[in-house]
Amino acid sequence: MTQLKNPIVVTGGAGFIGSNFVLHWIGQKKNKVVNFDLLTYAGNLGNLASIEGNPDHVFVRGDISDRKMVDTLLAEHRPAAIVHFAAESHVDRSIVGPEAFLRANIYGTFTLLEAARAYLATLEGDAKDAFRFLHVSTDEVYGTLEPNDPAFHEDTPFAPNSPYAASKAASDHLVRAWVHTYKLPALITNCSNNYGPLQFPEKLLPLMINNALAGKPLPVYGDGMQVRDWLFVLDHCRAIETVLEKGRIGETYNVGGGNQQANIDVVHMICDLLDELVPDSPHRPYRQLIRFVQDRPGHDRRYAIDARKLETELGWRAQETFATGLRKTVEWYLNNKAWMEEVTSGAYQNWMNANYGHRNEAPLSPATAGAK
Ligand code: NAD
Ligand code: TYD
Repeated sequence: MTQLKNPIVVTGGAGFIGSNFVLHWIGQKKNKVVNFDLLTYAGNLGNLASIEGNPDHVFVRGDISDRKMVDTLLAEHRPAAIVHFAAESHVDRSIVGPEAFLRANIYGTFTLLEAARAYLATLEGDAKDAFRFLHVSTDEVYGTLEPNDPAFHEDTPFAPNSPYAASKAASDHLVRAWVHTYKLPALITNCSNNYGPLQFPEKLLPLMINNALAGKPLPVYGDGMQVRDWLFVLDHCRAIETVLEKGRIGETYNVGGGNQQANIDVVHMICDLLDELVPDSPHRPYRQLIRFVQDRPGHDRRYAIDARKLETELGWRAQETFATGLRKTVEWYLNNKAWMEEVTSGAYQNWMNANYGHRNEAPLSPATAGAK
């Protein structure tokens, strides 16, 4: 960044990807980070324990929808950039309660854009030229793919199918409009499913690892043949860093690892890694815990990302394969059981009951019954 002395503001930096990004950024001794996060159920200061007391990290608890507070934050810290992760991020929760998604993802992003626009007007010269707003978004804005469809490209029309995806699509449109109308120097990244350390166990991988270690059922939705394009979280962080430093204003960059996997295959791989890494477990073989349960309403069948623009224009490449990233991930959860215990205490069980209590076990479909 050119304004090296000024910090960057990271919203949602106590969540899964945000905290990995903050740790990655601070680890490279770049700008100071002002981490602005509401600490919802998904935010956890324990994710940042390794940089506690580090003067390069300032944590401020607050809501991106609180215009006064965001204005004060920007005026006080004079950031060189805003990297915007804060959001409600879980599809199943958006089906149970969409309103929180509209508030945080749409109204929150709108508020942040307006505050950034007002702050930009106070900048001059190099500081003004260098300022960037990076909006972190998802491939789910593009909808779903048939098995032989080409992967999502930056020009693929938006067709969001879940309340979560619709709220993120709306926020992407707002960012685009603020670039076009107000010349806000913003960029957008649309990334595929992330996995890795520090992910809240409502999402597929940590949920399966946590349930498996406790000998609980592994709930696979529908026939388990839905495909996701998995990216190791640090590769996503490196992509955001690259776009922030080298991306062209107003552009969208798709981020993905070229790792398309059916859910049931991912669950099988996790089970097999646990069989290997926890050889004395009474729950082995872990595959016996798999249960096919009632599907998610409106469940997207397949996501796949074409990341060639980011690769060819900006030189980014995913460093982890799914095999290496998954092993690192499973090992991390095995080595951080206290973290898991902390995040699954309290309200977590209410969510598990709300989301899984009504899902009866479904009979195996003929396609999957004989698989693997
Ligand atoms: P997460 O749910 O783990 O974390 C979200 C963070 O935002 C939490 O720390 C939470 O406290 C904070 N937050 C929520 N509402 C807020 C508000 N109103 N004000 C301030 N902070 C608030 O999410 P994640 O998985 O880390 O995702 C981060 C971003 O990346 C999201 O914008 C998401 O849409 C996007 N994304 C996620 C994935 C994925 O696979 N997880 C993939 C692509 C894009
Ligand atoms: P998830 O991690 O919730 O991410 P997203 O919905 O954003 O893709 O889910 C990933 C895939 O795993 C998705 O196809 C739904 C499926 N899934 C299950 O089969 N069982 C589960 O318990 C969960 C949480 C997800």
